[in-house]
Amino acid sequence: STNYEYILVSEPRPGVGQITLNRPKALNALCTPLITELNSALRDFQTSSTISAILLTGSERAFAAGADIKEMAPLTFSEAYQNSFIESWSDLTTQLKKPLIAAVSGHALGGGCELALMADILYCTATANFGQPEIKLGTIPGAGGSQRLTRAVGKAKAMELILTGKSFSGEEAEKWGVAARVFKSHEELIEGALKTAETIAGYSKVAVQAAKEVVNKSQDLGLRDGVEYERRVFHALFGSQDQKIGMKAFAEKKKADWSHS
Ligand code: CAA
Repeated sequence: STNYEYILVSEPRPGVGQITLNRPKALNALCTPLITELNSALRDFQTSSTISAILLTGSERAFAAGADIKEMAPLTFSEAYQNSFIESWSDLTTQLKKPLIAAVSGHALGGGCELALMADILYCTATANFGQPEIKLGTIPGAGGSQRLTRAVGKAKAMELILTGKSFSGEEAEKWGVAARVFKSHEELIEGALKTAETIAGYSKVAVQAAKEVVNKSQDLGLRDGVEYERRVFHALFGSQDQKIGMKAFAEKKKADWSHS
């Protein structure tokens, strides 16, 4: 397996891949080499025939404290623009078809908050510290925060959060619909996230990919187009082996034994 400098990669449960951000000295600040490693690990999980769901986490103290401010400080407009700085962070949403669960403890600020918002499912501890503090640095969110946070919490709260740079807790994240679940401790968070990943990994791979795809479409399409898109994918699944396997198993009161496609 590959040796990384800024992340740890493991397979903690059958079908489940885990990536742990591991740059403790900088509270997992997301420097470009870290993102390159993250994308490489995600690519490996995406192409792996054994991995079906992925957990992304950090440490108890920090999921990630943002993009690397020391790396960004001297960047010129031309450098940022011509190298399309931050664009590669989107691989997570454009290249990864398998479900990704972010488990957030501690700081998830700026790019860390944005990275968590890119996940398919976000779990956190009650004391997790989310926020978009970019305004305090004389800039704005650059990895989708103004768009995803606004879709998640609505314009009223997003505008207040982004203009003031104030952070919000894991408890609030759950209350506002940013996080799907909140946990008392880091240990319970990881265990809960692994259980969910294992549950998903136990289902039909093709159905899971389709489910993720159609839910994500709801963020880009209007309701009429979205419902039609869903119906087309639903129709397409009648062409899969797993729809036959799943429904036959139900009728026979057996556990489905999914195809390996
Ligand atoms: N970039 C680079 N280094 C960072 C960092 C970041 N985003 N966040 C923390 N670090 C470094 C600190 O510089 C410090 O390094 P040294 O020991 O070498 O000084 C180390 O991590 C530990 O941090 P602190 O001593 O500050 O720890 P703390 O517990 O006192 O405070 C904190 C924690 C409140 C998270 C504080 O570190 C902080 O405010 N960090 C910056 C948060 C931020 O502004 N994030 C947004 C970045 S901009 C962005 O992300 C743009 C985008 O949208 C893509």
